[in-house]
Amino acid sequence: MPEFDFLKSELAELENAGLSRRPVCIDSPQGTTVRIDGSQKILFCSNNYLNLAGHPRIIEAVTEALKKYGHGAAASRLLSGTMRVHTQLEHSFSHLLQKQASLTFPSGWMANDAVIKTIPRKGDLILLDKLDHASIVDAAKSSQAKFRTYRRGGYDRVEKLLADKNYNRKFIVTESIFSMDGDAADLEKLIELKNRYDAFLIVDEAHALGCLGQTGAGLAEELGLLQEVDIVVATMSKALGSAGGVAAAKKVVIDTLVNKARSFIFTTAPTVANCAAALAAIEMLKLEPQRREMLKQNAKYLRSQLKQLGINTGHSQSHIIPVIIGGEKDALAVSRKLYEMGFFIPAIRPPTVPAGTARLRLSTQSEHTKEQMDTLCSRLEKLISQGLLPGLRS
Ligand SMILES: Cc1ncc(COP(=O)(O)O)c(C=O)c1O
Repeated sequence: MPEFDFLKSELAELENAGLSRRPVCIDSPQGTTVRIDGSQKILFCSNNYLNLAGHPRIIEAVTEALKKYGHGAAASRLLSGTMRVHTQLEHSFSHLLQKQASLTFPSGWMANDAVIKTIPRKGDLILLDKLDHASIVDAAKSSQAKFRTYRRGGYDRVEKLLADKNYNRKFIVTESIFSMDGDAADLEKLIELKNRYDAFLIVDEAHALGCLGQTGAGLAEELGLLQEVDIVVATMSKALGSAGGVAAAKKVVIDTLVNKARSFIFTTAPTVANCAAALAAIEMLKLEPQRREMLKQNAKYLRSQLKQLGINTGHSQSHIIPVIIGGEKDALAVSRKLYEMGFFIPAIRPPTVPAGTARLRLSTQSEHTKEQMDTLCSRLEKLISQGLLPGLRS
Protein backbone atom coordinates (compact mmCIF):
# COMPACT_ATOMS: atom_id res chain seq x y z
CA MET A 1 0.00 0.00 0.00
CA PRO A 2 1.48 3.40 -0.87
CA GLU A 3 1.83 5.81 2.07
CA PHE A 4 0.87 9.47 2.15
CA ASP A 5 4.23 10.59 3.55
CA PHE A 6 4.47 13.34 0.94
CA LEU A 7 1.35 14.89 2.41
CA LYS A 8 2.57 14.51 5.99
CA SER A 9 5.75 16.43 5.27
CA GLU A 10 3.84 19.10 3.37
CA LEU A 11 1.45 19.58 6.30
CA ALA A 12 4.38 19.76 8.72
CA GLU A 13 5.91 22.51 6.57
CA LEU A 14 2.65 24.47 6.66
CA GLU A 15 2.54 24.09 10.44
CA ASN A 16 6.12 25.36 10.81
CA ALA A 17 5.41 28.37 8.62
CA GLY A 18 2.32 29.32 10.63
CA LEU A 19 0.16 28.49 7.61
CA SER A 20 -1.67 25.42 8.80
CA ARG A 21 -5.50 25.59 8.85
CA ARG A 22 -8.20 23.66 10.65
CA PRO A 23 -11.92 24.27 11.06
CA VAL A 24 -13.31 25.22 14.47
CA CYS A 25 -16.66 23.65 15.38
CA ILE A 26 -19.55 25.89 16.48
CA ASP A 27 -22.32 24.52 18.70
CA SER A 28 -24.92 27.26 18.39
CA PRO A 29 -26.77 29.35 15.82
CA GLN A 30 -24.71 31.99 14.04
CA GLY A 31 -25.23 35.23 15.94
CA THR A 32 -23.02 38.02 17.20
CA THR A 33 -21.93 35.37 19.69
CA VAL A 34 -21.41 31.64 19.19
CA ARG A 35 -20.65 28.72 21.47
CA ILE A 36 -17.32 26.98 20.93
CA ASP A 37 -15.94 24.25 23.21
CA GLY A 38 -18.60 25.03 25.78
CA SER A 39 -17.90 28.75 26.03
CA GLN A 40 -19.51 31.80 24.47
CA LYS A 41 -17.36 33.82 22.03
CA ILE A 42 -18.12 37.16 20.43
CA LEU A 43 -17.99 36.69 16.67
CA PHE A 44 -16.35 39.30 14.48
CA CYS A 45 -15.48 37.23 11.43
CA SER A 46 -18.73 36.01 9.93
CA ASN A 47 -20.46 37.00 6.70
CA ASN A 48 -23.85 36.91 8.38
CA TYR A 49 -23.84 40.67 7.94
CA LEU A 50 -27.58 41.22 8.42
CA ASN A 51 -28.09 38.50 11.04
CA LEU A 52 -30.48 36.61 8.81
CA ALA A 53 -28.82 33.17 9.04
CA GLY A 54 -30.87 32.20 12.08
CA HIS A 55 -33.71 34.71 11.86
CA PRO A 56 -37.11 33.32 13.00
CA ARG A 57 -38.91 34.47 9.82
CA ILE A 58 -36.41 32.59 7.72
CA ILE A 59 -36.63 29.47 9.83
CA GLU A 60 -40.42 29.66 9.48
CA ALA A 61 -40.23 30.06 5.70
CA VAL A 62 -37.82 27.14 5.42
CA THR A 63 -40.00 24.95 7.64
CA GLU A 64 -43.05 25.64 5.50
CA ALA A 65 -41.15 24.98 2.27
CA LEU A 66 -39.77 21.72 3.66
CA LYS A 67 -43.27 20.56 4.53
CA LYS A 68 -44.48 21.43 1.06
CA TYR A 69 -41.58 20.19 -1.09
CA GLY A 70 -39.29 18.07 1.09
CA HIS A 71 -35.59 18.93 1.18
CA GLY A 72 -33.52 17.46 -1.65
CA ALA A 73 -34.07 18.49 -5.27
CA ALA A 74 -32.95 14.97 -6.16
CA ALA A 75 -31.70 15.76 -9.66
CA SER A 76 -29.93 18.37 -11.72
CA ARG A 77 -31.94 21.38 -12.83
CA LEU A 78 -32.29 20.09 -16.38
CA LEU A 79 -33.67 16.72 -15.25
CA SER A 80 -36.33 16.75 -12.55
CA GLY A 81 -34.50 19.11 -10.17
CA THR A 82 -36.20 22.40 -11.04
CA MET A 83 -38.83 23.06 -8.40
CA ARG A 84 -41.15 25.98 -7.83
CA VAL A 85 -38.77 27.48 -5.19
CA HIS A 86 -36.01 27.74 -7.82
CA THR A 87 -38.13 29.61 -10.31
CA GLN A 88 -39.59 31.85 -7.58
CA LEU A 89 -36.11 32.64 -6.31
CA GLU A 90 -34.79 33.41 -9.78
CA HIS A 91 -37.74 35.67 -10.43
CA SER A 92 -37.03 37.45 -7.16
CA PHE A 93 -33.32 37.88 -7.99
CA SER A 94 -34.09 39.24 -11.46
CA HIS A 95 -36.30 41.84 -9.84
CA LEU A 96 -33.77 42.73 -7.12
CA LEU A 97 -30.80 42.88 -9.48
CA GLN A 98 -32.82 44.63 -12.21
CA LYS A 99 -31.88 42.15 -14.93
CA GLN A 100 -33.98 40.27 -17.48
CA ALA A 101 -33.17 36.87 -16.03
CA SER A 102 -31.19 35.08 -13.39
CA LEU A 103 -29.94 31.60 -12.60
CA THR A 104 -29.16 30.02 -9.25
CA PHE A 105 -26.34 27.61 -8.41
CA PRO A 106 -25.51 25.53 -5.33
CA SER A 107 -22.75 28.01 -4.44
CA GLY A 108 -21.37 31.41 -5.33
CA TRP A 109 -18.17 29.69 -6.36
CA MET A 110 -20.12 27.74 -8.98
CA ALA A 111 -21.87 30.88 -10.24
CA ASN A 112 -18.50 32.52 -10.94
CA ASP A 113 -17.22 29.30 -12.45
CA ALA A 114 -20.22 29.12 -14.79
CA VAL A 115 -20.14 32.73 -15.95
CA ILE A 116 -16.40 33.06 -16.44
CA LYS A 117 -15.85 29.69 -18.08
CA THR A 118 -18.91 29.85 -20.32
CA ILE A 119 -19.37 33.39 -21.59
CA PRO A 120 -15.83 34.50 -22.62
CA ARG A 121 -14.55 32.38 -25.53
CA LYS A 122 -11.28 31.45 -27.20
CA GLY A 123 -9.79 34.63 -28.60
CA ASP A 124 -11.36 36.79 -25.87
CA LEU A 125 -9.62 38.50 -22.96
CA ILE A 126 -10.62 38.41 -19.28
CA LEU A 127 -9.27 41.24 -17.15
CA LEU A 128 -9.11 40.54 -13.42
CA ASP A 129 -8.35 42.69 -10.43
CA LYS A 130 -5.27 41.12 -8.80
CA LEU A 131 -7.22 40.64 -5.56
CA ASP A 132 -10.32 39.06 -7.10
CA HIS A 133 -11.67 36.05 -5.21
CA ALA A 134 -10.19 32.60 -5.83
CA SER A 135 -13.39 31.45 -7.56
CA ILE A 136 -12.93 34.19 -10.18
CA VAL A 137 -9.22 33.55 -10.62
CA ASP A 138 -9.58 29.79 -10.90
CA ALA A 139 -12.40 30.09 -13.41
CA ALA A 140 -10.39 32.55 -15.50
CA LYS A 141 -7.39 30.20 -15.41
CA SER A 142 -9.41 27.39 -16.90
CA SER A 143 -11.41 29.50 -19.34
CA GLN A 144 -10.80 29.19 -23.09
CA ALA A 145 -10.14 32.93 -23.09
CA LYS A 146 -6.80 34.47 -22.08
CA PHE A 147 -6.64 36.37 -18.81
CA ARG A 148 -4.55 39.25 -17.50
CA THR A 149 -4.57 40.95 -14.11
CA TYR A 150 -4.38 44.58 -13.04
CA ARG A 151 -3.66 46.24 -9.71
CA ARG A 152 -6.46 48.25 -8.10
CA GLY A 153 -6.30 51.67 -9.67
CA GLY A 154 -3.96 50.49 -12.45
CA TYR A 155 -6.24 51.91 -15.12
CA ASP A 156 -3.45 52.63 -17.60
CA ARG A 157 -2.87 48.92 -17.83
CA VAL A 158 -6.58 48.20 -18.04
CA GLU A 159 -6.89 50.71 -20.85
CA LYS A 160 -3.89 49.32 -22.70
CA LEU A 161 -5.29 45.80 -22.54
CA LEU A 162 -8.75 46.94 -23.57
CA ALA A 163 -7.25 48.69 -26.57
CA ASP A 164 -5.37 45.57 -27.71
CA LYS A 165 -6.84 44.57 -31.06
CA ASN A 166 -5.53 41.01 -30.81
CA TYR A 167 -8.51 39.96 -28.78
CA ASN A 168 -12.11 39.60 -29.91
CA ARG A 169 -14.19 40.50 -26.90
CA LYS A 170 -12.99 41.78 -23.53
CA PHE A 171 -14.48 41.09 -20.12
CA ILE A 172 -13.59 42.97 -16.94
CA VAL A 173 -14.34 40.97 -13.79
CA THR A 174 -14.26 42.63 -10.39
CA GLU A 175 -15.60 42.15 -6.92
CA SER A 176 -17.61 45.16 -5.80
CA ILE A 177 -16.62 45.13 -2.11
CA PHE A 178 -13.39 43.21 -1.80
CA SER A 179 -13.68 40.27 0.55
CA MET A 180 -10.42 40.61 2.46
CA ASP A 181 -9.86 44.40 2.38
CA GLY A 182 -13.39 45.78 2.54
CA ASP A 183 -12.58 48.45 -0.02
CA ALA A 184 -14.67 49.11 -3.11
CA ALA A 185 -13.94 48.73 -6.79
CA ASP A 186 -14.10 51.98 -8.72
CA LEU A 187 -17.14 50.90 -10.70
CA GLU A 188 -17.57 54.32 -12.23
CA LYS A 189 -14.10 54.20 -13.75
CA LEU A 190 -14.45 50.60 -14.92
CA ILE A 191 -17.78 51.44 -16.55
CA GLU A 192 -16.29 54.46 -18.29
CA LEU A 193 -13.52 52.23 -19.67
CA LYS A 194 -15.79 49.38 -20.65
CA ASN A 195 -18.04 51.78 -22.51
CA ARG A 196 -15.11 53.43 -24.26
CA TYR A 197 -13.69 50.09 -25.43
CA ASP A 198 -16.94 48.22 -25.92
CA ALA A 199 -16.07 45.64 -23.27
CA PHE A 200 -18.31 43.71 -20.86
CA LEU A 201 -18.33 44.18 -17.09
CA ILE A 202 -18.99 41.32 -14.68
CA VAL A 203 -19.38 42.36 -11.04
CA ASP A 204 -19.29 39.93 -8.13
CA GLU A 205 -21.48 41.51 -5.45
CA ALA A 206 -20.87 38.67 -2.95
CA HIS A 207 -20.09 41.00 -0.05
CA ALA A 208 -22.36 43.87 -1.03
CA LEU A 209 -25.62 42.06 -1.84
CA GLY A 210 -28.12 42.87 0.89
CA CYS A 211 -25.74 45.36 2.51
CA LEU A 212 -25.55 48.22 0.02
CA GLY A 213 -27.94 49.95 -2.33
CA GLN A 214 -31.36 51.37 -1.81
CA THR A 215 -33.03 47.98 -2.05
CA GLY A 216 -30.02 45.88 -1.09
CA ALA A 217 -28.92 44.98 -4.63
CA GLY A 218 -25.31 45.90 -3.88
CA LEU A 219 -22.68 48.51 -4.65
CA ALA A 220 -23.70 49.06 -8.29
CA GLU A 221 -27.21 49.93 -7.13
CA GLU A 222 -25.83 52.23 -4.44
CA LEU A 223 -23.93 54.14 -7.12
CA GLY A 224 -26.86 54.15 -9.54
CA LEU A 225 -24.86 52.00 -11.97
CA LEU A 226 -26.68 48.68 -11.92
CA GLN A 227 -27.94 49.07 -15.48
CA GLU A 228 -24.35 49.45 -16.68
CA VAL A 229 -23.23 46.11 -15.28
CA ASP A 230 -23.58 43.35 -17.86
CA ILE A 231 -23.54 40.39 -15.51
CA VAL A 232 -24.05 40.46 -11.75
CA VAL A 233 -22.80 37.47 -9.78
CA ALA A 234 -23.64 37.10 -6.11
CA THR A 235 -23.93 34.60 -3.34
CA MET A 236 -26.76 33.73 -0.97
CA SER A 237 -24.25 32.58 1.62
CA LYS A 238 -23.37 35.93 3.15
CA ALA A 239 -25.89 38.68 3.94
CA LEU A 240 -28.78 36.46 2.84
CA GLY A 241 -27.75 33.91 5.44
CA SER A 242 -28.35 30.86 3.23
CA ALA A 243 -26.14 29.09 0.67
CA GLY A 244 -26.01 29.20 -3.11
CA GLY A 245 -24.97 31.49 -5.92
CA VAL A 246 -26.72 33.55 -8.56
CA ALA A 247 -25.93 35.14 -11.91
CA ALA A 248 -28.22 37.82 -13.31
CA ALA A 249 -28.03 39.31 -16.80
CA LYS A 250 -29.83 39.60 -20.14
CA LYS A 251 -31.90 36.53 -21.01
CA VAL A 252 -29.52 35.50 -23.78
CA VAL A 253 -26.69 35.22 -21.22
CA ILE A 254 -28.77 33.19 -18.80
CA ASP A 255 -30.08 30.91 -21.59
CA THR A 256 -26.47 30.31 -22.61
CA LEU A 257 -25.54 29.36 -19.05
CA VAL A 258 -28.50 26.97 -18.90
CA ASN A 259 -27.34 25.30 -22.10
CA LYS A 260 -23.59 25.36 -21.63
CA ALA A 261 -22.41 26.00 -18.07
CA ARG A 262 -21.01 22.77 -16.71
CA SER A 263 -21.37 23.84 -13.05
CA PHE A 264 -25.08 24.35 -13.73
CA ILE A 265 -25.75 21.30 -15.87
CA PHE A 266 -23.73 18.64 -14.09
CA THR A 267 -24.75 19.19 -10.49
CA THR A 268 -27.83 18.64 -8.37
CA ALA A 269 -30.12 21.65 -8.01
CA PRO A 270 -29.81 23.79 -4.85
CA THR A 271 -31.80 22.40 -1.91
CA VAL A 272 -35.32 23.55 -1.11
CA ALA A 273 -34.21 24.88 2.29
CA ASN A 274 -31.45 27.03 0.80
CA CYS A 275 -33.77 28.51 -1.81
CA ALA A 276 -36.62 29.12 0.64
CA ALA A 277 -34.19 30.78 3.07
CA ALA A 278 -32.78 33.04 0.35
CA LEU A 279 -36.28 33.96 -0.86
CA ALA A 280 -37.32 34.89 2.66
CA ALA A 281 -34.08 36.84 3.14
CA ILE A 282 -34.73 38.89 -0.02
CA GLU A 283 -38.15 39.65 1.44
CA MET A 284 -36.45 40.76 4.66
CA LEU A 285 -34.33 43.23 2.68
CA LYS A 286 -37.59 45.02 1.87
CA LEU A 287 -39.23 44.57 5.27
CA GLU A 288 -36.28 45.65 7.38
CA PRO A 289 -34.12 48.10 5.42
CA GLN A 290 -32.91 49.43 8.77
CA ARG A 291 -30.61 46.39 8.99
CA ARG A 292 -28.49 47.89 6.22
CA GLU A 293 -28.30 51.18 8.09
CA MET A 294 -27.37 49.46 11.38
CA LEU A 295 -24.63 47.56 9.57
CA LYS A 296 -23.29 50.75 8.05
CA GLN A 297 -23.32 52.58 11.38
CA ASN A 298 -21.61 49.68 13.15
CA ALA A 299 -18.90 49.52 10.50
CA LYS A 300 -18.35 53.24 10.68
CA TYR A 301 -18.11 53.18 14.47
CA LEU A 302 -15.78 50.19 14.68
CA ARG A 303 -13.49 51.54 11.96
CA SER A 304 -13.20 54.91 13.64
CA GLN A 305 -12.43 53.29 17.01
CA LEU A 306 -9.75 51.09 15.45
CA LYS A 307 -8.23 54.07 13.70
CA GLN A 308 -8.08 55.93 16.99
CA LEU A 309 -6.02 53.06 18.34
CA GLY A 310 -3.66 53.54 15.41
CA ILE A 311 -4.56 50.19 13.90
CA ASN A 312 -3.90 49.71 10.18
CA THR A 313 -7.32 49.05 8.62
CA GLY A 314 -6.05 49.45 5.06
CA HIS A 315 -8.54 51.11 2.70
CA SER A 316 -11.64 49.61 4.24
CA GLN A 317 -14.83 51.49 3.50
CA SER A 318 -17.38 48.83 4.33
CA HIS A 319 -18.49 46.31 6.95
CA ILE A 320 -15.29 44.33 6.24
CA ILE A 321 -12.43 45.87 8.22
CA PRO A 322 -8.98 44.30 8.08
CA VAL A 323 -6.59 44.63 11.01
CA ILE A 324 -3.41 44.21 9.05
CA ILE A 325 -0.64 42.63 11.08
CA GLY A 326 1.94 41.35 8.57
CA GLY A 327 3.56 38.07 9.60
CA GLU A 328 1.56 34.85 9.67
CA LYS A 329 2.73 33.80 13.12
CA ASP A 330 2.07 37.26 14.55
CA ALA A 331 -1.47 37.21 13.18
CA LEU A 332 -1.99 33.74 14.66
CA ALA A 333 -0.72 34.90 18.04
CA VAL A 334 -3.12 37.86 18.09
CA SER A 335 -6.02 35.65 17.04
CA ARG A 336 -5.20 33.17 19.84
CA LYS A 337 -4.95 35.91 22.47
CA LEU A 338 -8.31 37.31 21.38
CA TYR A 339 -9.78 33.83 21.63
CA GLU A 340 -8.62 33.62 25.24
CA MET A 341 -10.23 37.02 25.76
CA GLY A 342 -13.59 35.77 24.46
CA PHE A 343 -13.50 36.59 20.72
CA PHE A 344 -13.50 34.31 17.70
CA ILE A 345 -11.59 35.99 14.86
CA PRO A 346 -9.32 33.59 12.94
CA ALA A 347 -6.10 34.84 11.36
CA ILE A 348 -6.26 35.26 7.59
CA ARG A 349 -2.98 34.25 5.97
CA PRO A 350 -1.57 33.58 2.51
CA PRO A 351 -2.65 32.37 0.04
CA THR A 352 -5.97 34.02 1.01
CA VAL A 353 -4.13 37.35 1.26
CA PRO A 354 -0.74 38.38 -0.18
CA ALA A 355 2.41 37.39 1.75
CA GLY A 356 3.32 39.89 4.46
CA THR A 357 -0.26 41.08 4.92
CA ALA A 358 -1.61 38.45 7.32
CA ARG A 359 -4.47 39.93 9.24
CA LEU A 360 -7.59 39.64 11.24
CA ARG A 361 -10.52 40.23 8.94
CA LEU A 362 -13.09 41.87 11.13
CA SER A 363 -16.63 41.97 9.85
CA THR A 364 -19.49 43.76 11.52
CA GLN A 365 -23.04 42.51 11.74
CA SER A 366 -26.15 44.68 11.96
CA GLU A 367 -26.85 43.34 15.47
CA HIS A 368 -23.40 43.88 16.97
CA THR A 369 -23.78 46.09 20.03
CA LYS A 370 -21.67 49.11 20.87
CA GLU A 371 -20.57 47.24 23.98
CA GLN A 372 -19.29 44.30 21.89
CA MET A 373 -17.34 46.66 19.64
CA ASP A 374 -15.97 48.65 22.57
CA THR A 375 -14.89 45.47 24.35
CA LEU A 376 -13.09 44.31 21.21
CA CYS A 377 -11.29 47.64 20.91
CA SER A 378 -10.24 47.62 24.56
CA ARG A 379 -8.80 44.10 24.12
CA LEU A 380 -6.96 45.17 20.97
CA GLU A 381 -5.61 48.17 22.87
CA LYS A 382 -4.28 45.80 25.49
CA LEU A 383 -2.54 43.72 22.81
CA ILE A 384 -0.98 46.87 21.38
CA SER A 385 0.32 47.82 24.82
CA GLN A 386 1.80 44.32 25.17
CA GLY A 387 3.58 44.78 21.85
CA LEU A 388 1.63 41.95 20.22
CA LEU A 389 -0.26 44.08 17.77
CA PRO A 390 1.22 46.92 15.75
CA GLY A 391 -0.63 50.22 16.12
CA LEU A 392 0.44 52.98 13.73
CA ARG A 393 1.67 54.93 16.75
CA SER A 394 3.61 52.02 18.28
C1 LIG B 1 -16.08 37.57 -3.66
C2 LIG B 1 -16.59 36.18 -3.48
N1 LIG B 1 -17.15 35.56 -4.53
C3 LIG B 1 -17.62 34.30 -4.41
C4 LIG B 1 -17.57 33.62 -3.23
C5 LIG B 1 -18.08 32.23 -3.17
O1 LIG B 1 -19.35 32.20 -2.61
P1 LIG B 1 -19.90 30.89 -1.92
O2 LIG B 1 -19.37 30.87 -0.52
O3 LIG B 1 -21.37 31.02 -1.98
O4 LIG B 1 -19.38 29.73 -2.70
C6 LIG B 1 -17.01 34.25 -2.10
C7 LIG B 1 -16.93 33.63 -0.77
O5 LIG B 1 -16.90 32.63 -0.37
C8 LIG B 1 -16.50 35.56 -2.24
O6 LIG B 1 -15.94 36.16 -1.19
